[in-house]
Amino acid sequence: MLIRTIYVSRASSPLPLELKEILAVSRKNNPLRGVSGAMCFLDSVYLQFLEGDAAIVDALYQKIEKDSRHSEVKMLVHEPIAQREYPKWSMALLTWNDEMKAIFSRFNPNSACDLYMADPATVAALLREWAGTNNWMTV
Ligand SMILES: Cc1cc2nc3c(=O)[nH]c(=O)nc-3n(C[C@H](O)[C@H](O)[C@H](O)COP(=O)(O)O)c2cc1C
Repeated sequence: MLIRTIYVSRASSPLPLELKEILAVSRKNNPLRGVSGAMCFLDSVYLQFLEGDAAIVDALYQKIEKDSRHSEVKMLVHEPIAQREYPKWSMALLTWNDEMKAIFSRFNPNSACDLYMADPATVAALLREWAGTNNWMTV
């Protein structure tokens, strides 16, 4: 069964170096496990989308949850999906600009671009709308 999981968390360090390391290991491991997804990072908050086989995504999530590079891991979405949305993304990274922030604010009018406060009910649609732009680093 295919699922998607979306969570937010708070980075332990604001250093972009950790994000680079996380992306590098994700891009190495995820294709081997049939996991695809997307990462957003703003003001020391991670928002990550993972999709793949349920058992594999759940095992990865449990590992990620214990990673000391972040804390306060809060799951927003965990649900079956009929097909992958981002099959080509081993772990794409959102590039921020005013348009991306405006899209977030439209979905989350009261949260002043705080990724941690993303609405679980609309976060998958938010990612879909972001994904429709070209503001992604895929390698
Ligand atoms: C915010 C965040 C997101 C992560 N995403 C992934 C991911 O998508 N895939 C992955 O393999 N590891 C990811 N990791 C890293 C894992 O926690 C772990 O360090 C990595 O999988 C290496 O595990 P290993 O030492 O057992 O090989 C992430 C870590 C953090 C903090």
